[in-house]
Amino acid sequence: MSETIRQLISEEDVDKKIREIGEQISRDYEGRQVHLICVLKGGVFFTCELAKRINVPVSLDFMSVSSYGDDTSSSGVVRIVKDLDESIEGKDVLIVEDIIDSGRTLSYLIEVLKQRNPNSLRLCTLLDKPERRVKDVNVDYVCFNIPDEFVVGYGLDYAQKYRNLPYIGVVEL
Ligand code: PRP
Repeated sequence: MSETIRQLISEEDVDKKIREIGEQISRDYEGRQVHLICVLKGGVFFTCELAKRINVPVSLDFMSVSSYGDDTSSSGVVRIVKDLDESIEGKDVLIVEDIIDSGRTLSYLIEVLKQRNPNSLRLCTLLDKPERRVKDVNVDYVCFNIPDEFVVGYGLDYAQKYRNLPYIGVVEL
C-alpha cells in the first residue's frame, strides 16, 4: 500500500519564515561571520535556503550523525558518521537542523561541539516537536513548532523519499 502526503506548511509559508529567521540571524550576528554546521542529510535543504537569506559573511561545514533507532524514533545512542572538515575553535557556530524531536541527537552534538571551543554555539531548526522532548535542548531559532505527526519534505524523509518536496507534509498511511 502506498502512502499519501497531506500538506501541513505551504512552500510560501516556509519561504517567508526562512526569510524572517535569516533577517533575525543577520541582525544577531552583525559585524561577525557565522559558521553554519549543516546536520546531514535532512538539514541540507534548509541550510541552503537559510544561508541565502543571511547577509553577514557565512561559512559552511557538514556533519552526519546517526541514531540507532527504528524508522520513526531515535534510540538515544548517537554516533558521528561524518565529522566536520574544519576546526570550529573561536568561530561563531550555528548548528542547522531540519527537526528536533526527542532532542537526543542535538543534546549529544552540542556537548561534542562545545568541547571544541567555539566562540559561540547556537542552534537553529526548521521544525520543532516540543511535546516529544526527552532531552532538554536550548533552541535559539525555530521556524515552526509542529504537532507530533510524521512529517516529510524540505529535507525530511519517509524511507528516504520526499526529502525534495518544497513544502512540509504529513505522511498518511
Ligand atoms: C533527524 C533530524 C535530527 C534527528 C532529530 O535525523 O535531522 O538529526 O532526527 O531527532 P531527535 O531529536 O529525536 O534526536 P535522522 O536521524 O532522521 O537522519 P537524516 O537527517 O539523515 O534523515
